[in-house]
Amino acid sequence: MAETLTVSLRERSYPIALGAGLRGDVRAELDRRVHAGGKVAVLTDVNVASRQGDTLKAMFGDAPRCTVAAGEGIKSIGGLGDVLEFLASHRIDRTGALFAVGGGVVGDLGGFAAASYLRGIDFVQVPTTLLAMVDSSVGGKTGINLRAGKNLAGAFHQPRAVFVDTDFLQTLPQREFAAGMAEVIKYGLLGDAELFTQLERAALTPASANLADVIRRCCALKAKIVEGDERELAAESGRALLNLGHTFGHAIEQVAGYGTYLHGEAIGIGLCAAARLSQELGCLSATEVARITAVVGAHALPVRLRAPLVMKSLMSALAQDKKSRAGVPRFVVLKRLGEAATQSEGITATMIEGCFRAVGAKDSL
Ligand SMILES: NC(=O)c1ccc[n+]([C@@H]2O[C@H](COP(=O)([O-])OP(=O)(O)OC[C@H]3O[C@@H](n4cnc5c(N)ncnc54)[C@H](O)[C@@H]3O)[C@@H](O)[C@H]2O)c1
Repeated sequence: MAETLTVSLRERSYPIALGAGLRGDVRAELDRRVHAGGKVAVLTDVNVASRQGDTLKAMFGDAPRCTVAAGEGIKSIGGLGDVLEFLASHRIDRTGALFAVGGGVVGDLGGFAAASYLRGIDFVQVPTTLLAMVDSSVGGKTGINLRAGKNLAGAFHQPRAVFVDTDFLQTLPQREFAAGMAEVIKYGLLGDAELFTQLERAALTPASANLADVIRRCCALKAKIVEGDERELAAESGRALLNLGHTFGHAIEQVAGYGTYLHGEAIGIGLCAAARLSQELGCLSATEVARITAVVGAHALPVRLRAPLVMKSLMSALAQDKKSRAGVPRFVVLKRLGEAATQSEGITATMIEGCFRAVGAKDSL
C-alpha cells in the first residue's frame, strides 16, 4: 500500500506516493490520463530499460517510450532536442503528459522537456535511484548542462505526481546506492537529528527494514523546505539549505573532472568539509565532526579525496559557484547536528582552505 505525502504549493500541489510494488498505482495514473483523452509518453534510459523491462511494461504497456543513453552526458542541448522531437513526433498535445522514469538525469532532462514542450505539459516523476527518490524527483528543479557548467539551463516545473517505488532499488548498483546515501545523510544533518542518529546506529542498506521510512522522512523534509521557498529566493536559509556539502562538493567534482567522483561521492567529501567549517565557526565540536565523518564512511562513501587536488583550482572553482551572491560564495553551515543555516559573513579564504586541506587537498601536487 502506498503512503502519500503532499507537496503543498497551491495550484501546483502534488502527491508523493511511497512504498514497494507501486506498479498498479503508476498504471492507474496513466490509465486515468488516457481515459480523460490525454496522450502519454515515457522517458527512460538504457540501464533502467534493460534492468527493469518487466516493470516498465507493467506500468506503461505500449505507451510511446523514448530511451536515452545513460549518464550525465545526455543532460545536454542535444539530449533535450531528442526528447522534444520525440514528443512532437508522437503528437503529444497540451493535454499530454511525460512520465520520467529513471535517476536524476532522466528526471531533470524529462522535466525540462516537459516545461518547454508546447510551453509546458504535465510530467510525472517515477524515480529509480535512491538519489532521485530522496531528492531530485521532488521540488520541480529541472534542467540540462551547458559546456560552461552543470545545470546552467532549466526551469522550475513541478511534477503533477511522484511515485517512489522502492522495488526499483533492487537492481541499482551498490555504488549508486551509496551516492544516494550522501543526500540522505545531508537531510539528517540539516533538519532531522533523529535520522542522523539512526544512520549512526546502523548503516542503511537496500535490505534495511526502515529504508522506506528513511526515504519518506527525506521527502517530507524536502517538501517542507520547497513549500517555504519554491524558487530559492529566500535571503537566508530556505531552499539553499539543500546545498549542505554541495559548495565544497561541486568544486571537487569540477576540479577532479566530471565522472571521477559520482555526484554523491563528491557530496560525501563535501559534507565532511562542511562539518569542518562548522567546527571552525565554533558551532560543532571535534567529536561531532568525527561522528559525521564516521557516518559518511560507514555508508561506503569517501571522506577524503582519493587523489589530492590543487588548492588554487578548488578555490577558483568555488568563486564561480552559481549560488554566490555578489561574488561571495554562500556556505551552508551546521549550527548543530540537525540544524543548518546559510552563511557568508565571517568565513575567510584561510578557513575554506583549511577545510579543503582536511579532506586531502594540497597546495601543489
Ligand atoms: N533536480 C534536482 O533537484 C536535483 C537534485 C539532486 C541531483 N540532481 C541531478 O541528478 C543527477 C544525478 O542523479 P542520479 O544519481 O540518480 O544519476 P543517474 O540518473 O545518472 O543514475 C545513476 C545510474 O544508475 C542507473 N540506474 C537508474 N536507476 C536504476 C535502477 N533502478 N537499476 C539499475 N540502474 C539504474 C542509471 O542508468 C545511471 O547509470 C545529476 O544530474 C544531478 O544534477 C537534480
